[in-house]
Amino acid sequence: MWEPQGMYSKFLLRQPTILFGPHAIMGLKTYACSRAVVIHGSSLSDAYKQKVAQACSAFAIIFIAKTWEGEPTLETLNPTVAKVEAFNPDLIIAIGGGSVIDGAKMVRTYFEFPFFDVHETSFSMLNWKTTFVAVPTTIGSGAEISSASVMYNETLKTKEFVVSQQFIPEIIVLDAALIQDAPKHILLSSMVDALSHAIEGYLSLIDNMLVDSYAEKAIQILSKYYQVITEDIQQDQLNKLQLASLFGGLVQNHCIVGATHALAHQMSAYGVSHSNAIALFLPTVIRKNIEDANVKARFEQLAVHSGFKNGDALLTFVDLIINTFDLSKARLVLKENKARILTDDAFFENALRDKGGQGNPVRMTKDFLVAIFKTASA
Ligand SMILES: [Fe+2]
Repeated sequence: MWEPQGMYSKFLLRQPTILFGPHAIMGLKTYACSRAVVIHGSSLSDAYKQKVAQACSAFAIIFIAKTWEGEPTLETLNPTVAKVEAFNPDLIIAIGGGSVIDGAKMVRTYFEFPFFDVHETSFSMLNWKTTFVAVPTTIGSGAEISSASVMYNETLKTKEFVVSQQFIPEIIVLDAALIQDAPKHILLSSMVDALSHAIEGYLSLIDNMLVDSYAEKAIQILSKYYQVITEDIQQDQLNKLQLASLFGGLVQNHCIVGATHALAHQMSAYGVSHSNAIALFLPTVIRKNIEDANVKARFEQLAVHSGFKNGDALLTFVDLIINTFDLSKARLVLKENKARILTDDAFFENALRDKGGQGNPVRMTKDFLVAIFKTASA
């Protein structure tokens, strides 16, 4: 079970090696290994598989398509764990979006520690035998720099966080070539997730000056380069957006995020993707939070330090980036289920308990979340 850090600040000096820039994947060549397993999502091309095989110094390599849909459950992870156990790798490479990387973290955990219990916090120090490489194929989740693995709890119909600092991968590869052909609406919506990590992390109850600059830099880059997604994408610009996403993830990992995530996580039971759910709630949550004078002052500071004239200009940018992609399906799901959700106490109770939302700068109550929900679904 997730355990709060307590309301103090922490800066982790254990950082992964980050390979970025053209042909970043080829940097894997410098890491000696014998047996490599690649766990990947559904869209990894044969050409890229070949590139990874060339980049690895392993004498044996296998590719395993993930066996889970959306957030993994213990059950859906099992077939992949069995394949990994049979192969016995010393290098595990996860190539995919947030759920692939998160699932692969748990596959590694069960491969090395078969008796690992997600509800048992005493396993927080895991001394790995394998090396773990995360290669994100989306911009935004921050899973590549996160000490959390998001699982889906079938019984409670909600997301659960398994946390260990040891989940942070040893190597991260930011290869723009992998992202260049991704659907534009997915890239744009996942950038809203990155933006939310920077904003919610910055405004979080856990105030951490050491990571503030990462939040400011993330927003600076996102606001300067997000348009390249809708234009002719250049790989060097895409790589900058990947770094912005990583910075946002780093902020999220140090300062727990807030009400946007608490509510968004509950929407996965309605089939709304994480980034779309974030887009549904982020502007309303910011507006609600900055009704508090202290939070408003902090938001104004973030806006100015990120290159905006003031908080209003940053809010306009948040609205603008959300309007660059089609959110109509997610909005429809929200509207169609509005009445049902408003009478569903469990929805708001789960949101209040959500481990990902505990950093909200204004104390969350059911009324507070209901008010946000009503505005966002109006
Ligand atoms: Fe997120």
